[in-house]
Parts: sequence; C-alpha cells; structure tokens
Amino acid sequence: MTMTIVRTDAFTDQKPGTSGLRKKVTTFKQINYLENFVQSTFNALGDCTGKNLVIGGDGRYYNQTAIQIILKMAAANGFSHVWVGQNGILSTPAASCLIRKYSAFGGIILSASHNPAGVDGDFGIKFNVSNGGPAPESITNGIYQQTLEISEYKIANAADLKLHELGQQTIGDMTVEVIDCVADYADLMQAIFDFDAIKQLLASDFSLRFDAMHAVTGPYAIEILEKRLGAAEGSVINGIPLNDFGQGHPDPNLTYAKELVDQMYADDAPDFGAASDGDGDRNMILGNHFFVTPSDSLAILAANATCVPAYNTGLKGIARSMPTSQAADRVAEKLGIEAHETPTGWKFFGNLLDADLATLCGEESFGTGSNHIREKDGLWAVLFWLNILAVKHQSVNEIVLAHWKLYGRNYYTRHDYEEVPSEQAEALMSHIQSQLSSLVGKNLDGRIVEYADNFSYLDPVDNSVSNNQGVRIGFIGGDRIIFRLSGTGTQGATLRVYIESYEDDATKLEQETQQALTQLIELASSIALIEKFTGRTEPTVIT
Ligand code: G1P
Ligand code: ZN
Repeated sequence: MTMTIVRTDAFTDQKPGTSGLRKKVTTFKQINYLENFVQSTFNALGDCTGKNLVIGGDGRYYNQTAIQIILKMAAANGFSHVWVGQNGILSTPAASCLIRKYSAFGGIILSASHNPAGVDGDFGIKFNVSNGGPAPESITNGIYQQTLEISEYKIANAADLKLHELGQQTIGDMTVEVIDCVADYADLMQAIFDFDAIKQLLASDFSLRFDAMHAVTGPYAIEILEKRLGAAEGSVINGIPLNDFGQGHPDPNLTYAKELVDQMYADDAPDFGAASDGDGDRNMILGNHFFVTPSDSLAILAANATCVPAYNTGLKGIARSMPTSQAADRVAEKLGIEAHETPTGWKFFGNLLDADLATLCGEESFGTGSNHIREKDGLWAVLFWLNILAVKHQSVNEIVLAHWKLYGRNYYTRHDYEEVPSEQAEALMSHIQSQLSSLVGKNLDGRIVEYADNFSYLDPVDNSVSNNQGVRIGFIGGDRIIFRLSGTGTQGATLRVYIESYEDDATKLEQETQQALTQLIELASSIALIEKFTGRTEPTVIT
C-alpha cells in the first residue's frame, strides 16, 4: 500500500459537542475538514497500529463519501481490521452492539442524529470507545486539542471499497469486512426480550405502527417487528432509508412525527405507536390517543423491568440526565436502588453502566437504554414496551395511569427556542446566572426556592468533574425549572427550558400538561426575560 501525507491547516471550530462534531454538510465538504477531524481523532488515540474499528452511519447524504475517506485514512494510520455496515449503514445502537460483540478498539459513527439531512442539511461524526459508548470528555477534549495543532494527515492511495458487497476486501494490510447491518443487533434484541410473548400479542387483536421517518431504523424495524415478531406487513411506515430522510426532520416527537401522531389520534388508531430518529437511538411511545412522556417512559420501564427476561432479576440502579423528570427517582426509591443524576448527553452514563451502578438510563429527549449496549436505543425501548404490554395484558394508557396512581405524576414539558442568535442566548443565560444566589429561600408565586445553581457533576467512578451543565431552580416539594443551551445545534443557539411539577392528588392526574404547568411556564419566562432577550413570544418546539 502506498500512502500520501497531506499538509493541512487547522480549523478552529472542530470542538465536539454533546454528541460528536456536528456541522452543515457544506462545512464538512470544505477541503480537508473531515480529514483533519479524523486524523485528529487517530492522533488523540495514540498508536493505532494493529487496532480495529467498527464504522457505519445513518445513511444521510455524505455518509458513503465520508466512509471511503475514513477507511483509507484508517489503513494509512495502521489499523488492521475494520467492520463496516453494508452500504455504510449502521444505526447508532447497532454500532455500539458491534463494538462490544467484536471486542473492537472503538468505532466511528457518522450521524447528526435527528438533524435534517441532504445537501444543505447536517452531517456529524463521533468516536465511540471500546465499551461501545461515546468517548468521554477526556478523549473528546484531546481530539479538539489535536484539531487545533494538526498540520498533516495520512491517507492510503487506494480505490474506493465496494460497500454493497458483503465479505472481506483489503486496503494494503488492513482488512475491510462489510457486514450485514441488522443481523447482530436483531439477535441481541431476541436475547433480551420475550419474543414468544410479543409474537402472541402481535398475533392477537393488537395493531402497531412504527414510523422509521425515512431514516436508518427502517431495515431494523422491518426485520425485527415484521419478520421475526410477525407484525402485519405495513406496520412499519416510512421504512426505506433515504439520504435526505425524505426532506423531513427525523426527530420522534409530537411536532415532527406528524404522520404517526395523526394515525394514533385517528378514530381507527392502532393500539401502539412508536417512532425513532435519524440514527435510531431515540424513541417516542404512543398509545391509542395517548402520548407517553419520555421521562415517564423511563420510570415505567424501570417499574416493570421484571417483565423482561434480561432484567427479571432486578435492576442495579437507574440513571437519568439532570433535566429529565424525577419520576424515575420515585421508582428507584421504591425498589431500594440508587438513582443517579448526570449531565445531559449519553456519554455520562458509560461509567455507571460499566461499573454496574445503573442498569437502565434515560433522558427527557426521547432517549432510553440499558447496560445491553452503551448508547440509547430506540427499538430496544419499543420492544421493552411491547414486552410489558404482552405480559401485563393492559393497554399503554392503562399502564401509565396505574403508574401515576401509585407514584404520583411528574408533569413535564420542554420548551425549545431554536436558532436564537448566540449573543442573545448567552446574555439571557448570564442574566439568569446573576440572580441565582439571591433566589434561594424566596417565595415565587407560592413556591419556595430550595436551591438555585449551575449543575456540576462528580462522576462517582472516575471522579471527573463536569461543570456548567445547566441552570436549575428547584422548589421545595420537587418542582423545577431548568435552563440550558443545546450542545448539538449547528445554527445559532437553542435555548431549552425544562419545567416539571409533581402532583399526587388522585383527582388531578389527568390534566393537559401545558395547562397543568402554566404557572411555572410563566415564572420561567419572567425569570429569564425570554421575550426581552430573544424577541420570542413562543417556543419553536414544545415537547
Ligand atoms: C440533545 C439532547 C440530549 C441528547 C443529545 C444527543 O442534546 O438534549 O439529551 O443526549 O441531544 O441526542 P442538546 O442539544 O440538548 O445538547
Ligand atoms: Zn439520535
């Protein structure tokens, strides 16, 4: 194999965010932009000689081009073996599954998750470590440092690989093994859940709809739900992945998964509805005319975990990101297990899962997962729900209502203000920050502030500290208002306002969410002076 060492200049904007480096496709297409980031990743990892990797992506525009470049750079940097999904496709959970199954050194995942795709859409790249999870901050900071110092990269002089052909090919001494992107993941799901019970449920008078949103989960959902579990053909909608996701926004929430939501609120609605996102790690769960808030979903999965064979001996602990509602904490308390509160981003769950301190993890942003891999997992959550429904012989609505009756309900909403000019968003956050010390003990509209701070996390496993993870205002009784700026956007800033209120009065469990939270929503706006700083009177998206 011959290779070229290419001289390059550093880019100053390659700092990985909440989940890897995400930018516009047009940014990634700049000369050397992708190459710089890939070489910086390899440089940060040290000597790559003889190591192996898993590579795949969510199939969005630029996926295959990027993979061809990365494969040639991996060969030039001494890697010996790479497993790559057929046609360059791997959902994020499938990539995590393969890294673990093949004991790979790590993986490179090409995805910008739920962000729109296409020539003018977004692209992304992230490195996962040998446990199958996103690289921790110590590594992503190292990569960033390398991106600032880089002056050259290495690339093999080789023809493009045939990514559609299963089997082994080579670039010099490096083997490229093109693998089926679905089989290993589907086998893992079959080993976790009671497929026989779910099959029986699906053979009964029970209908389901899964919206793959033209993104990566289509082939996975068709294989698992329709082929292995016998759901009626057509249960999976928008199941053919398109490189622009059909020009949609593959984020499974009430705003963007409109087609599914319309079906689930129609007169002849199916019993169960679900959707996943661009790269397959998110999930939204719906019943007939019923939406399950992701924070509640985590709590309900935890409370019913023993229905599932893989968790029937109980859970070690439950972890949730800080802005996720505290519903899961109540379940942990009842089960007598630890409840962990981490910063936003799946990477913070890795250590807890590795140390067996947590079995289930979840985020309010439609992410749920467990120790079976080290990423959140959309289809896993769907199968978990189906397994519970199959065992309990109750509807989604009945299960959620019973849960609220037992534990009380954490009313919860997130209001996003997207594409706010960064300076305005920063000024708003500073304004909130400046009030924090004076808020504690104050009575705000009848609620007493118990704490007001900027969340800091001490990882109990490696003792690392992550500061500035979001501003929290907590009231006596558990109500909370949280403000943070997104770390995944590619245009301006996105302000996220998270609002939560606990209710255990059995007569008040079925209110409309925004209604139930009106007072806190207004309070949040007045504390942050949202209109004054951003000019916005309404959020862009409410979940
Ligand atoms: C968002 C979500 C976060 C999730 C991340 C990656 O990050 O809020 O929970 O882990 O996407 O899917 P944010 O844009 O808020 O930084
Ligand atoms: Zn995603």
